[in-house]
Amino acid sequence: MNMKTMLGTIGAGLLLGAQAASAAPFGGEEDTAYAASLWNALTEANLVGEGRTMSAPYTGQHPHGAILDTIDGEVTVEGTTGPVIIKRNYGGEGVTRQAVWNAPDDYLGAVTVMFKREGYDPDNHDWFWVKYLPSGELATNPKGVPLAGRVAKGMDQGCIACHSAAPGGDMVFGHDRIQ
Ligand code: HEC
Repeated sequence: MNMKTMLGTIGAGLLLGAQAASAAPFGGEEDTAYAASLWNALTEANLVGEGRTMSAPYTGQHPHGAILDTIDGEVTVEGTTGPVIIKRNYGGEGVTRQAVWNAPDDYLGAVTVMFKREGYDPDNHDWFWVKYLPSGELATNPKGVPLAGRVAKGMDQGCIACHSAAPGGDMVFGHDRIQ
């Protein structure tokens, strides 16, 4: 291989690498590590895990679940302090608001979280999006990519696409408190 061909091959490799990085706005190593730090911060704040603080369960909307409870707080993750919104998604046989309030762990399907991480994604109000399983493990999309980070920036489905329609232009459906 002569020098010119070799450089061309290396150049193509770099380009492919850059494209792969920009094609994955979520679910990479950095995002999954950050999601783990966020889960730890939420555990310390008693917002997830055993004995977590609850709010009154209510009847939910697609796609989040039959019954939901939503709670806001503030946490510090790797040096960034910001507001966080946690939605617990409940479902399963016999699910009712009363049943969930009595035994939340029997019905908890997923925990979806928005953490306002300053500087992370100015195009989308700096929200860091995550979908956890009740254990704190990350939920994945059908391709096996963890749902953590800018989910799914530039795509026409996913957290960002749907939450862009929230009233108040802040990507939050429930209120317009955090701008
Ligand atoms: C198809 C639309 C849609 C998608 C996709 C979606 N959401 Fe939501 N989300 C909603 C709606 C509607 C609400 C308000 C539901 C309610 O409380 O009754 C909501 C509420 C929330 C809330 C509470 C704050 C708020 O906006 O009121 C959080 C947190 C949340 N979603 C996280 C996520 C995460 C994380 C993802 C992606 C893994 C996601 N959502 C995907 C529609 C969507």
